[in-house]
Amino acid sequence: MIADIEGSAAEFVAIRRDLHAHPELCFAEERTASRVATLLEGWGIAVTRGVGRTGVVGVIRRGQGSRAIALRADMDALPLQEHTHFAHASRHAGRMHACGHDGHTAMLLAAARHLALHATFDGTVVLIFQPAEEGGTGALAMMEDGLFDRFPVEAVFAAHNWPGLPVGSFAVSPGPMMASCNEFTIVVHGKGAHAAMPDQGIDAIQVAFQIGTALQTIVSRNVKPTEAVVLSITQVHAGDALNVLPDSCELRGTVRCFSIEARDFVETRMRQVVQAIGAAHGARCEFRFKCNCPPTTNHPAETAFVQRVLRELVGKDHVRPFEPTMSAEDFSFMLQAKAGCYFMIGNGD
Ligand code: NI
Repeated sequence: MIADIEGSAAEFVAIRRDLHAHPELCFAEERTASRVATLLEGWGIAVTRGVGRTGVVGVIRRGQGSRAIALRADMDALPLQEHTHFAHASRHAGRMHACGHDGHTAMLLAAARHLALHATFDGTVVLIFQPAEEGGTGALAMMEDGLFDRFPVEAVFAAHNWPGLPVGSFAVSPGPMMASCNEFTIVVHGKGAHAAMPDQGIDAIQVAFQIGTALQTIVSRNVKPTEAVVLSITQVHAGDALNVLPDSCELRGTVRCFSIEARDFVETRMRQVVQAIGAAHGARCEFRFKCNCPPTTNHPAETAFVQRVLRELVGKDHVRPFEPTMSAEDFSFMLQAKAGCYFMIGNGD
């Protein structure tokens, strides 16, 4: 362990609890960002505020070296009610640091303080405190605000706590760690009619049922069996009256996969299935597909580097491979633009 960081553990536990008590949602991380910026400045770190709205960037330079890396933490909380009785439980109804981003922020602050006050290195470390990881693509917002042009780096690293992985251990693998997350909406426009006279209309619900069933054959029959893809329909909306066939029926859902190729293939195939089934029944179909984020894919050299560092820190028995999950992470945008690695920290039960 790094003695200086261990020695200041109490200070960072207090910071984490303070952040935990004051959770802020997507792009509303004003207090958190201000706390982060003030702490960084207190350790003599150059700070830029308001990168990607509420993002904060710190820069630590040493020596003449031109090499640079970035470390990234996310700062936002979730719209959930906290049901714990900790003294540092959320003071805001309907908001909670349930994903542990308060911990990520405190960890990067601890690293920042150590690097600024005690570490010797030659080059630049960029500290990225990102807003809106939870569905707001804050990583992309910072990049669109010129993150990597204003603060150029060779590689970027991030970590997430991982429940179920024992405390004191880490999990990381090269290649995909998390999936690409995409959402779709299908609107079947039929023709309304009295339920007793279906011949007078075009039954949007029946067409939507057929589309829903046929979409499930894309993963099972069209995608290569070794490629992992999930296609889930999660919403069906149609109809108001028991005796009326509605004009339209809407289906919504999500597609998760580990490659851009699989994503593009599934999108194309979905469009074909939707349009062809609609046409077969004389229904007009709208199909919208939105890519929320790409897969989180670790780069091999940077992953090997992280594995080496983690083994030094906790021993090789405590650094495991990570089985990719179908959940998603917007750090994926940074790993698309830069080399880097995303790894999991054991969080226990
Ligand atoms: Ni998270």
